[in-house]
Amino acid sequence: MIKIAVLGYGTVGSGVVELIERNNTLLKERAGEEIVIKYILDLRDFPGDPYEDKVVHDFGMILTDPEISILCEVMGGVGAAYRFTKQALEAGKSVCTSNKELVAKHGAELLAIAGRMRCNYMFEASVAGGIPIIRSINSALVADRVEAVTGILNGTTNYILTKMEQEGADYGDALKQAQELGYAERNPEADVEGLDTGRKIAILADMLTGKSVDPDKVATEGITKITTADFAYARAAGMTIKLLARCRVLEDGSAWVMVAPYMLPTEHSLGRVDDVFNGVQITCTMLGEAMFGGKGAGKLPTASAVAADVMDCAMHPGRTVMRAWSDEEAKLTDTAQTESRFFLRVKAGSADTVRKAFAGSVPVTAEREEDEGFFTPAMKEKEFRAICAGLGDVVLNRIRLV
Ligand code: HSE
Repeated sequence: MIKIAVLGYGTVGSGVVELIERNNTLLKERAGEEIVIKYILDLRDFPGDPYEDKVVHDFGMILTDPEISILCEVMGGVGAAYRFTKQALEAGKSVCTSNKELVAKHGAELLAIAGRMRCNYMFEASVAGGIPIIRSINSALVADRVEAVTGILNGTTNYILTKMEQEGADYGDALKQAQELGYAERNPEADVEGLDTGRKIAILADMLTGKSVDPDKVATEGITKITTADFAYARAAGMTIKLLARCRVLEDGSAWVMVAPYMLPTEHSLGRVDDVFNGVQITCTMLGEAMFGGKGAGKLPTASAVAADVMDCAMHPGRTVMRAWSDEEAKLTDTAQTESRFFLRVKAGSADTVRKAFAGSVPVTAEREEDEGFFTPAMKEKEFRAICAGLGDVVLNRIRLV
C-alpha cells in the first residue's frame, strides 16, 4: 500500500482525491499496490465531506510520518508551498505539483534536492493542464532535441478570446464564466496579463535550454487590450487571435522567449484550439514538428496529470525520473531585435499617414467605419515601436502576426 498526502483541498486537490477514489482499481493494477490518501492538508475544515477525517492542519504530521512517501502539492504560491516541498524532498519524499509559479521560480533547486535524495519532483500539471507535454519532453523525446515550442498554455485566456471571437462576448462576462468553471487563477490578473503563461513557457524553456529561465524576465503581454474590433479585422483576413507562448533555442545556447497575443491564420495548427483547450506545437531536430492538444485547465484534467506523476513515483521507487536543469541563468535574447509583421488598427481617415510611415503596408478590409486596419511588412520590433510612437494617438491597437 502506498500512502500519500494531498496539500491543498481546492479545485485541483479535490480533483486528485476524486480521481484516486474513482480509478482506485486501475491504479492498483498498474502500480502493483493500492494508492491510499492518508492526509489532506488545508487551513479549513470540511464538515460533511466524505474525506473530512483525513483533513489535517499541521504539515509536521505529514513530514514526520514514515508511511508517507508521496505528496501532491496543489496549494499554489511560493511561500508555504516552497517550504513544504523543500522539507518533503529533503526527507526523501517525492512531490507532485501543479504549481507552475514554484516550478518556474525554484525548479532547479528542488530538482537538485530530489536527485540527491533519490526521489522525485514532478510537475506535469504545471504546464498545459492535462496535456502530457512535460513527460513527452523528459522521456518520450529524450533522444531528440526540442528546438522550439509555440503554445496556447492558458485555458482562461483562450476561453475568453474564443467567446469574444465566436459570440462577440464582452471581455468581463467571458472572464466571469471562466472563473465560474474553475479555470482561472485566484488572481485573474495572472491569467489575463500573461503571467501564468509566462511561468509555463519559462518551465518549458528551462527544459529546452537546461538552464534556469527567470519567469520575471520573459517578455510578456496579456490580452486586456484585445477588442472585438480586432477580431473583426482578423475574421476579414481569415485569421484569429490567440495568446501564444513561444520559445526558440538559438545556436549559441541563448533562448528567445515571448508571451503575447498573435494574429494567426485559422488553418494554423493552433488556430482552432478553442475554449479551455491548450495546444503545444514543438519542433525537434529529428522528429520535426509535433502537436499536442487537450484541456489546459479544470479540476479533473489537471488532476489527471498530478495523478500520473503520483503513479510514476509509485512505479519507480528509489529512482529519480525527472531530468534536472542547472541553476545557471539562461541568456535571453532581446525581443526588440525580433522581426515580425504586425496588424495595426488605426483611427478612421489615417490611411495615408500609415502608408507613409510603413512603406509596403497592406490594408485589411473589414467594412468598419470607426477604424481601419493594416498589415505591415516584416520589421524589427524596435523599429516598429519607434514608428508607432511617432504616430501618437492615431494607433488604436497593434498585434503581431505569426
Ligand atoms: N489559470 C490557469 C489556466 C489554470 O487558465 O490555464 C491552469 O494552469
